[in-house]
Amino acid sequence: MFTLGVASGDPTPDAVILWTRLALDPTAGDGSGAMPDEDVEIAWDLAADERFERVLASATVTARAADGHSVHVDATGLEAGTDHWYRFRLGDETSTVGRTRTLPTGAPERFSVAVVNCQMYESGAYGAYRHLADEDVDLVAHLGDYIYEYAGGEGEGRHSLPNRVLETLGDYRLRYASYRLDPDLAAAHARFPFVATWDDHEVANNYMGDTAPGDVDAEVVRARKAAAYRAWWENLPVRLDPPDGSDLAVYRAFDAGDLARLVLLDERQDAAEPPCRDAQSTGLDFGNCDEVEGEDRTRLGADQEAWLADQLATSTATWNLLGNPVVLAGVDGGSDTAAYYLDTWDGFPQARRRLIAQLAEVSNPVVLTGDYHAGMTLEVRADPFDQSSALVAPEFMAPPISSVLFPQDVSARTPQLLEQLNHHGYLVVDVTPDELTARFRVLDDVADPDTEISTASTWTVRAGDPEPTRA
Ligand SMILES: [Fe+2]
Repeated sequence: MFTLGVASGDPTPDAVILWTRLALDPTAGDGSGAMPDEDVEIAWDLAADERFERVLASATVTARAADGHSVHVDATGLEAGTDHWYRFRLGDETSTVGRTRTLPTGAPERFSVAVVNCQMYESGAYGAYRHLADEDVDLVAHLGDYIYEYAGGEGEGRHSLPNRVLETLGDYRLRYASYRLDPDLAAAHARFPFVATWDDHEVANNYMGDTAPGDVDAEVVRARKAAAYRAWWENLPVRLDPPDGSDLAVYRAFDAGDLARLVLLDERQDAAEPPCRDAQSTGLDFGNCDEVEGEDRTRLGADQEAWLADQLATSTATWNLLGNPVVLAGVDGGSDTAAYYLDTWDGFPQARRRLIAQLAEVSNPVVLTGDYHAGMTLEVRADPFDQSSALVAPEFMAPPISSVLFPQDVSARTPQLLEQLNHHGYLVVDVTPDELTARFRVLDDVADPDTEISTASTWTVRAGDPEPTRA
């Protein structure tokens, strides 16, 4: 029954979400997990030790058929900055045991976050997650592309289910189940609390707001968002109410005492259509166009933009970490002329200037990014690409867990780029009151689940000085 494992997430100093999803056969083609169409009551235990000798809480919870038989238990009354262990029970069946950790309060000496993204199942094994389980981090921040919506394919190699482009709730449910059957991904969820946002592939490639490449009808996009958001909510350990149709506010913040505030952004749901979408729909999503500097396109939507302004203005943290799914500092991959991915912040220059101006006002802003299928260290300048403008923040881009690399060298026209790493892996960010350390952990061979891992580079940032230094 507990075939999809356990997970925890969205910790606070005294609570954490405990997750599981019941499935008799996770591979059932309709995404139902072969579960009967009725609610199931299960029990959960939370303990101060791995052997459950000191149980702190036990209760029951209903796994509703309407929620795909998932549960999100909010376990409260916990001690701050402390490891806890949890499990679920049904009859004589017991789930695997998960470990989780509440957020610290006060003045922690250290806080550590692993940053992950882009885990296309078909293009590589999850050796990165196997190694991540050995790291000593307080939580894992997932910046998106948790699943990809393409047909799973068939034949040799890894294939997720179903073998069709995802459209319905059943399709998306089956895709999450298929990914979660990977033992290394399941083990990472059982080891650390996750805090997750999303990028485009949780719904569809390059969707923005209620638009998608190829002039898809807005109603069709909304229906797909509703199915995809519902399945995302069911399958991730988030402290959120279920979506209302195609609406789900996922932006939120996590405080590690007064040491660090981590803000997670949603850069898809309410975004305006990117410039030159007509050209993109004919295959050009990488280029330049006169429309870029035209109208003021929103990236975050008015509600999230106001919320973010408040989160930054009220922060008393030494470090302000921005969980930002797509690159902020700007990347120009052209040779003779400029060429941008117009669905990154490069397609939203006015909104980007506003965001960077806000970051310039806070204590030690650091941007954490994904999406680009490479590891990068960049400088976020007040006026991106103008190296004579003020340095506002360092930006660290986590390498992809398994998605296909985009190894094109973008250094020629991107002076703010300090390093590009064309490898798979993850990023570990440690903060102390004096210093931030970013370590790029990279795999030898993403195709090999038993691959080795090493640290490709380490950067440090001193509190009070945004310039990253290679260690
Ligand atoms: Fe991706």
